[in-house]
Amino acid sequence: MTGTGQAYGESWYWDKRYTDEAAGPFDWYQKYPSLKPLLNLYVPHNYRVLIVGCGNSAFSEGMVDDGYEDVVNVDISSVVIEAMQKKYSDRPQLKYMKMDTRDMSCFEGGSFDGVVDKGTLDSILCGQSSQQNAAKMLSEVGRVLKDKGVYILITYGTPVFRLPLLRNSCLWSIKLHVIDKQLSEGNSRQRKWELTSPIPLDGDGKSVEAMLGENPDVHYIYVCIKDNR
Ligand SMILES: C[S@@+](CC[C@H](N)C(=O)[O-])C[C@H]1O[C@@H](n2cnc3c(N)ncnc32)[C@H](O)[C@@H]1O
Repeated sequence: MTGTGQAYGESWYWDKRYTDEAAGPFDWYQKYPSLKPLLNLYVPHNYRVLIVGCGNSAFSEGMVDDGYEDVVNVDISSVVIEAMQKKYSDRPQLKYMKMDTRDMSCFEGGSFDGVVDKGTLDSILCGQSSQQNAAKMLSEVGRVLKDKGVYILITYGTPVFRLPLLRNSCLWSIKLHVIDKQLSEGNSRQRKWELTSPIPLDGDGKSVEAMLGENPDVHYIYVCIKDNR
């Protein structure tokens, strides 16, 4: 995510973008097939799953094709939600609703077993009042999840920046996985990092930098289990 900066946090930007690029679908960072082994590890097929900031991604369709039966998608852009409702009107396993992830009050607490976020917290962090908005979003994610439910955050954000935000929002037990960026383009070369093996995580995440090296070519995947003990 570079260049457009603050606009990524604004609904008008996404409405315009989805109007201009009506063709879709487009998946940020990674497509479903490359993340499927990790999803299958942490998200059983009978889970009710919420996708926050779904965009026009084919990720949720991939989940349903893989056997997930209840995938609820929300996005702040009415343009993309209307397009997705139309596109998937024959897939009852997929629901699309216009919603701001900072206020998901139309869902009761504990409504979901899993929440998946691919690029949406990152977008909010590019916008104005980014820290407050990110905190609001994360506290809503924690609220709509059942106890022991899982929040999967796929991001470019390193542990040093993402861990403090996560830890201030909810009581989580957090595991970190990484995936090579190039694999998102269908590159079949040998993986440098094994997706399903967590990376050891110390208190502030600096051990991860030491292990992966400077500017590693990876996306980070935070697997956060709600742990309200
Ligand atoms: C970087 S895109 C990621 C889209 C999709 N998750 C993917 O992986 O391709 C970020 C998405 O978040 C949505 N978004 C941004 N702020 C939001 C908010 N406060 N509430 C809900 N959706 C939001 C945007 O409309 C956009 O579709």
